[in-house]
Amino acid sequence: MDFSSDTSAPAHPKVLEALARANAGNAPSYGADPETAALEARLKTLFETEALSVWPVASGTAANALALACFCPPTSAVLCHREAHIERDERGAPEFFTGGGKLRLLDGPDGRIPAETLAAELAGMDPSFVHETPPALLSLTNLTECGTVYSASEISALSRLAHASGLSVHLDGARFGNALARLGASPAELSWKAGVDVLSFGLTKTGAIGCELIILFGEATARFAELQARAKRAGHMPAKLRYLSAQANALLEGGLWLELAGHANAQATRLAAGLAGLPGAQLRHPVEGNEVFVTLPDSMARTLSDAGAKFYPWPEGGYRFVCSWATPDAAVEQFLSIVYPASR
Ligand SMILES: Cc1ncc(COP(=O)(O)O)c(C=O)c1O
Repeated sequence: MDFSSDTSAPAHPKVLEALARANAGNAPSYGADPETAALEARLKTLFETEALSVWPVASGTAANALALACFCPPTSAVLCHREAHIERDERGAPEFFTGGGKLRLLDGPDGRIPAETLAAELAGMDPSFVHETPPALLSLTNLTECGTVYSASEISALSRLAHASGLSVHLDGARFGNALARLGASPAELSWKAGVDVLSFGLTKTGAIGCELIILFGEATARFAELQARAKRAGHMPAKLRYLSAQANALLEGGLWLELAGHANAQATRLAAGLAGLPGAQLRHPVEGNEVFVTLPDSMARTLSDAGAKFYPWPEGGYRFVCSWATPDAAVEQFLSIVYPASR
């Protein structure tokens, strides 16, 4: 009953098999290898565009910080939600990698930035006022940090506002697969077709060992040389990059990543349905992906914990339960049998 995080899950066996295959013999270094070329070709098909460049990195923090740094000068800012991972959980990496760029925080229910909030922020900015730190970029997260989704039309509306004010748009897609599995949208619809210029496409939580793709779309591909230079300077240009690309190829092959994300979502939905019916329990956000945020009576949290269930108390209150590709039915069933002893 490990619901601590999707990063606690092992890597999918197909990822390990792909690594063994990629290990057959020598290959050019620093991204000039056939695995990385195959990954780029695969992504162009998946995202339905030739106007795409990709750079794989081993962590979501590196993907976000490098992506933001390519768009946000040191004297500018990134607009993001107050609960964004880049604000809460990256130890200043965005500020460090941008060389001093600032995060400007916006509020909104369930981890989403409402279009009116963004519009008001943009209307109030005055880049000619030297004392202000003008935003260069809007950063959204999908799934959000509250486990909810932005629809393609919500992202389009926010992107339109951002672009109209001269801002670029970044999407932190650490759980991009979970958002897509929920919405049934295509990767293109939830990214560049909705105005996203740069995507941190996470695969680690989906089943990789450690692989996140920084993807530039459309005109943003002109920044690829800068992205590579920044990756090199930051130590994110491993010589044997093929082993990162091989992980992504394994998960993207045949849509495995979406299948795995769908499984994680389905298990979270079952968990949430069980918890929602419990006296004294209350879901803190709609469950739209693989994460459940819930307020529980302390006695129930203790009982679950004593029975071996793993989960975290959450800073905003309540507890977070996360399902992954590897969450078995038996774990959910055991959990629910503790919540409802009569059904044991
Ligand atoms: C929304 C989001 N973005 C980025 C990250 C960063 O990933 P990493 O821990 O690999 O740096 C996480 C990790 O939990 C995340 O939840």
